[in-house]
Amino acid sequence: MAAIRLQPEDSEVSQQARAVAADLISDDDRSVAADSWSIKSEYGSTLDDDQRHADAAEALSNANFPAASDSSSDKDETDAEASMLGFQSYWDAAYADDLTNFREHGHAGEVWFGVDVMETVASWTKSLCIDISQGCIPNDIDDIKSEPTELGDKLLSSWSVLDIGTGNGLLLQEFAKQGFSDLTGTDYSEGAINLAQRIANRDGFSNIKFLVDDVLETKLEKQFQLVLDKGTLDAIGLHPDGPVKRMMYWDSVSKLVASGGLLVITSCNSTKDELVQEVESFNQRKIVTAQELDTAMDQESCRDPSFGYLSHVRSYPTFMFGGSVGSRVATVAFLRN
Ligand SMILES: C[S@@+](CC[C@H](N)C(=O)[O-])C[C@H]1O[C@@H](n2cnc3c(N)ncnc32)[C@H](O)[C@@H]1O
Repeated sequence: MAAIRLQPEDSEVSQQARAVAADLISDDDRSVAADSWSIKSEYGSTLDDDQRHADAAEALSNANFPAASDSSSDKDETDAEASMLGFQSYWDAAYADDLTNFREHGHAGEVWFGVDVMETVASWTKSLCIDISQGCIPNDIDDIKSEPTELGDKLLSSWSVLDIGTGNGLLLQEFAKQGFSDLTGTDYSEGAINLAQRIANRDGFSNIKFLVDDVLETKLEKQFQLVLDKGTLDAIGLHPDGPVKRMMYWDSVSKLVASGGLLVITSCNSTKDELVQEVESFNQRKIVTAQELDTAMDQESCRDPSFGYLSHVRSYPTFMFGGSVGSRVATVAFLRN
């Protein structure tokens, strides 16, 4: 696979960036980087800090990295801070702190993008899954809504769910509350998995499975009906080799989503249109690669892209910028062929 051949691990750029990140990772640096990068809230706190959201949005617009080949140029401080979130060392240190906080104070840690977004993702995705189970393709006009029913809960039990880059695992707890029961969370940080498991046990969700796994080199052999990503592709994209890693991400994720299954991505770093564009590029790359390798893939399967846009959340607050309407967070569902 072309993207896999472009392993960035040994590049000089990667080594330099890793050194920069290692130097920067103190508690204060971590909190500055996280605050400047993401819309997040402490679990249970209210999300009324408009200024914080505006600051985060501004920082995000500065957090786009050049391609790896271009990264010898000077980076400003914001870039250096934001890049830390692309490194596992950042997350390992962050979750070590969170584990201490959990042990000492019972705090679960951050809810990335806030509690409202987490609840919306869970209830919106549930409706989508119920509609699909009943053979309905959701229309694109309004947000889908469905009332809880016994049939709905029964339908949800057949959906196996994987949350990649699960962090503290609170999103999966929200999905459990919505009626999903086959739930697995993975993260490349052992500290995150340790934390997620402890919180789940404490909160009565010990049926949720948590595993250490790097999505870019996944060891999972199973496929899932529903794959969730909230903030993980964003973090991956903040590595100095982000463009290459994002390609690896799509290759990997396409193997994890079962045929006919869903991928639901929540991002504060890409708009809905950018995510759709990225998927289209991946589909195109796949077709070209298949043709180049002269595989047995026939004309029909070449015409069927791997992922197709299905729907997106329309209820997030929007703002006007330069004559265009946008929202700070995008949640987009893609259907796997
Ligand atoms: C912004 S946090 C989001 C955490 C969680 N999804 C949430 O919404 O609270 C990004 C998460 O992705 C994880 N992550 C980043 N790159 C990863 C990779 N290659 N494989 C697995 N997890 C990864 C980090 O450890 C971190 O937990």
